Amino acid sequence: MDDTRISVAFTLNGRSVRAEVEPHRSLLWLLREHFDLTGAKEGCGVGECGACTVLVDGRAVNACLVLAGKAEGRDVVTVEGLGGAEALHPLQEKFVDKGAVQCGFCTPGMLLSAKALLDRNPRPTREEIRVALSGNLCRCTGYNQIVDAVHAAARIGGGGEAPR
Ligand code: FES
Ligand code: FES
Repeated sequence: MDDTRISVAFTLNGRSVRAEVEPHRSLLWLLREHFDLTGAKEGCGVGECGACTVLVDGRAVNACLVLAGKAEGRDVVTVEGLGGAEALHPLQEKFVDKGAVQCGFCTPGMLLSAKALLDRNPRPTREEIRVALSGNLCRCTGYNQIVDAVHAAARIGGGGEAPR
């Protein structure tokens, strides 16, 4: 195996970080294996399921498809950066309230896709929410509670300016 490593410096959940990584590694691998941030999951590994969704410069991306080196100079946010047990993000709060929390595999990616949506569109319609979450597959739900949760989070200012 090629032992050559590259250095990657970026912002991770608000903190400046640096890592040495083999050039072929994905951003998902870097986050999980190097930084021990296991919220983003490897479902399919080929860009189909959205379980690996993270935010890069505010955009929801499939971390399994992004080379780790592409994080250089970027702002990366994982579900661990959203909020914690003591201070839930409005999206997390509403996912709990509305019974939208599914398995740990799909929920982190759903939350981050929803955050990217609310940050650019603080008052999305239900249809816009469905479109934004269309890259996040869950085989176990009809998505209604998830759409309800994102809609409710928008009403309490889950992203960008507070909705009226
Ligand atoms: S693991 Fe990345 S899209 Fe499925
Ligand atoms: S894939 Fe997570 S609950 Fe269905």
